[in-house]
Amino acid sequence: MEYKYLEFSMPEDGIGLLTLSAPQSLNALNSGMLRELDDFVQHVPSEVRVLLVTGAGSKAFVAGADISEMQPLDEAGALEFARLGSSVFRKIELLPVPVIAVMNGYALGGGCELALACDLRITSERSRFGQPEVGLGIIPGFSGTVRLTRIVGPAFAKELIYTGKTIDASEAYRMGLVNAVVPAEQLMEEALQWARRIMANSRVAVSYAKRSIQESADLPMDDAIALENRYFAQCFLAEDQKEGMTAFLEKRKPRYK
Ligand code: COA
Repeated sequence: MEYKYLEFSMPEDGIGLLTLSAPQSLNALNSGMLRELDDFVQHVPSEVRVLLVTGAGSKAFVAGADISEMQPLDEAGALEFARLGSSVFRKIELLPVPVIAVMNGYALGGGCELALACDLRITSERSRFGQPEVGLGIIPGFSGTVRLTRIVGPAFAKELIYTGKTIDASEAYRMGLVNAVVPAEQLMEEALQWARRIMANSRVAVSYAKRSIQESADLPMDDAIALENRYFAQCFLAEDQKEGMTAFLEKRKPRYK
């Protein structure tokens, strides 16, 4: 598929960089961009071990869902739009590799929801965050009420969603919404360093860790623990476990394939 709104590159071996670009609307998510994202997540190149997602330009990560596209919708159209965005974000969340949101500016509404579907969020000091939907007469529609609550807890989720207020990066860090805050000019290098750090570990183990964290969140405690036990055991089917432990015992760095 030819992409109008997405750019993909690999700045380093194993690291994919996906850039969302709709400059006229601060990278707002329209249905065309969402369909491209849906296609992309189903065709992530197999050599990608960590995927970085960012917004084009220096002002916005993603300034929300596209308000001009939503304004004329009726109920059926709104349901379709919400289902499209939510299903794409769920596919991002379930990708077998870690996904890092590299937040280079406004992350509002659907932009904040996109970041919440990523595994980790690294932001520039200049970014602003919020779920301003209630001010537009709607609620978050791309699973924001669900994921924000799970990530920052119900008290902060309700604070952000009911007030619709915009917060700065230090406040977002205090709430646990983002993992790290760095000066704008260091943002991409910081994200690359996080990716390199992850890639120094066993690919198999990182992938099982992601599955266990993701899938256990929806299970009762005993089932979640049983699931982790199974994924732990499955690590022993892969070469990486022998290599990792042998390397430790031989006092050397592991050489993962
Ligand atoms: N949907 C559609 N267009 C958007 C948009 C969105 N979510 N966010 C920004 N844009 C457009 C603006 O309409 C403007 O277009 P124009 O140049 O044709 O007038 C352009 O992007 C630049 O935005 P502007 O508002 O002029 O920039 P700003 O620096 O004054 O303000 C924001 C930046 C992000 C604070 C402001 O654009 C904003 O509040 N956007 C909407 C955020 C939102 O409510 N998102 C949730 C949607 S559910």
